[in-house]
Amino acid sequence: MEVRVFDVDQGDLAGYYQLWQAAYSDWSDEPLGDYDTTIGLLRNPLTAFGPQLHWSAHSDGLVVGHLQLSLPADEGSTLSMIKITVHPDFRRRGTATALLLASLPTLRSHGRSTIEGWSVTKGGPGHQWAANRGFVPVHETVMQRLAIHDVDESLWDVPAVPGYRTVSWNDRAPDDLVASYAAVQDAIQIDVNHRIGFTTTRTMLVVSRDVDGLADLLGRGVSAR
Ligand SMILES: CC(C)(COP(=O)(O)OP(=O)(O)OC[C@H]1O[C@@H](n2cnc3c(N)ncnc32)[C@H](O)[C@@H]1OP(=O)(O)O)[C@@H](O)C(=O)NCCC(=O)NCCS
Repeated sequence: MEVRVFDVDQGDLAGYYQLWQAAYSDWSDEPLGDYDTTIGLLRNPLTAFGPQLHWSAHSDGLVVGHLQLSLPADEGSTLSMIKITVHPDFRRRGTATALLLASLPTLRSHGRSTIEGWSVTKGGPGHQWAANRGFVPVHETVMQRLAIHDVDESLWDVPAVPGYRTVSWNDRAPDDLVASYAAVQDAIQIDVNHRIGFTTTRTMLVVSRDVDGLADLLGRGVSAR
């Protein structure tokens, strides 16, 4: 097994996609997106988590593992996030550990002293691997899913709580709501962010206002709710 830096333009993209096809059920109950969508996301990641770097593990010409490393761009940040996936047929052979080791020099050179992994299922292979490699749980959450075609919509037919009103909008959010919306988001996020050492709320609001402006400019009908 060989580990190398993975180039999102020149790397073995077909092999990368096959790896995700084999392992995606560990990450989601939903089907994996098609090839173009998956590679599009690889090449155009969410900007909130900073630049992304990638390593891949290869065995007999197959991509058997992948590590995605995100380096949040906050000034002085010592935080990094990883997402490791190993092909189910190649697990318990040290692949994930080798990928992690390969990324360490880069982490150090970027001044990152903490590694986080998000969305690990409790009791699942990721949780057990992380525990065995010395990671410590810092935050637990419950993922809920609503199949909107199947649900009884009358369940949603509830009045606003006394003293409150419901506001909805299309496109640009009303200016008088932005500040209080930001305050509520901060109140919700502050405890979580403190534990995981990651802050995005204010930045995301600024970005969303920029997107509104861009939508106005381009007239493309982008909406924000
Ligand atoms: C988690 C995952 C990346 C581990 O990959 P791997 O190549 O099998 O891991 P390693 O071989 O480096 O495992 C190292 C050690 O971790 C522990 N470990 C790994 N998987 C484990 C499992 N399923 N159950 C219990 N312990 C496990 C063991 O101590 C193992 O050493 P051992 O095999 O000598 O006992 C892989 O199972 C996977 O892709 N899971 C789905 C995605 C995921 O949850 N990723 C983690 C998010 S960062």
